[in-house]
Amino acid sequence: MIPPNFRKLSPASRKEVLKSYFNLDKNEIDSLSNQIDFSDLSDVLVESSIGTFPVPLGIAAGFLIDGETKLIPMATEEPSVIAAASYASRLVQSGGGFHTWADHPVMTTQIYLKDSLPNAVDRIKEKEPLIASMVDTLIPRMVERGGGYRGLSFQTSADTVIVSIDVDVKDAMGANILNTIGEGIKDSLAAWSGGTVLMSILTNACLKRMAGARFVVPSKAFRKGTLSGKDVCLRIVEANRIASQFPERAVTHNKGIMNGIIAVALATGNDTRSVEAGAHFYAQQSGSYLPLTTYDFQNDCLIGTIQLPMSLGTVGGTTGCWPPSLVALKILGSPGAQTLNRIAAAVGLAQNLAALFALVTQGIQGGHMKLHAARIAYAAGARGEQIRPLASQLWNENCLTIKRAKELLENSAK
Ligand code: MEV
Repeated sequence: MIPPNFRKLSPASRKEVLKSYFNLDKNEIDSLSNQIDFSDLSDVLVESSIGTFPVPLGIAAGFLIDGETKLIPMATEEPSVIAAASYASRLVQSGGGFHTWADHPVMTTQIYLKDSLPNAVDRIKEKEPLIASMVDTLIPRMVERGGGYRGLSFQTSADTVIVSIDVDVKDAMGANILNTIGEGIKDSLAAWSGGTVLMSILTNACLKRMAGARFVVPSKAFRKGTLSGKDVCLRIVEANRIASQFPERAVTHNKGIMNGIIAVALATGNDTRSVEAGAHFYAQQSGSYLPLTTYDFQNDCLIGTIQLPMSLGTVGGTTGCWPPSLVALKILGSPGAQTLNRIAAAVGLAQNLAALFALVTQGIQGGHMKLHAARIAYAAGARGEQIRPLASQLWNENCLTIKRAKELLENSAK
């Protein structure tokens, strides 16, 4: 059982808890602390590697997702993100947690053909059975795992034909698989079209690989200061309505959502940019740039939902070989891709709820300044067990300066 005071433990004690709870070995634990040299691995992953670049990794506890309690590893440089996700997860727990869903992992690769014959689409359509078998032949192991060809569609623009091929990529993110297919089949498509190949690449729109989450929380959980829970809920609904009307607000609203989703993507070794690109593509799909969440107030409850393309994988690529990401996946319960995408949707919704809750009540700077106090304590030279008490003292004195932090540190050493 993860202790309820997990976040108040020292980093070393937190690691001990994880070690025994998830049966992690020394290598796995060390891989989270830069105690293993990943230079060789880094050198095979990127060109001209000079080392690795650590990003803070934390755990958002308290997530109840589809009836299961989860610890969420999140990699982020932004100080308030994990605290905010954990806070919102506790609020949502009081309403029974998050309910999530995710599509089958179908991704799309696109081949762009130039100078095609006027009847190119019909000529290619006739070849569909052959295309299906060519695709599956290019990815035999994926087919063995139950994935493979799922369909064909077309778009045209003047004499350019865009052939979109859908593929179930199972637990992979899928980019390599899709690009292998595109490049493996493009010349045949060009021959059938009577034209030439312009290019072939997957699309990060990922509209067939959506995920979503929902919560229903009684208003009393949101009571804050002089505001009733109902007042806060109505303010959250209004904040979301404003985001629906003004893209300048929606983009920041969605940035907050991606704070959570990208932190999960990064921790699990996924391609963060593809998830980000898909999310913003989906946000503008109606013709206006919209928030990715909705909120409603019904029967004295706040109802929040999120829906967006989600293409996180749990095998292949960096996910399958980067030791800290393998540990992160273990902490998540070794999910398949669909489950990871559901989890990420819940985290995005939690992150947005936390941001809106703070914004429509006391603002976000109070929480940020408390974390800033800890950074000042660190900058003044405090380490380990010294940091939190010094930060509290600076906060209580309302004096967040390195000079004062150094004085207090020196006094405590006397
Ligand atoms: C900051 O990283 C994220 C927020 O700006 C999100 C939002 O405004 O909804 C607080």
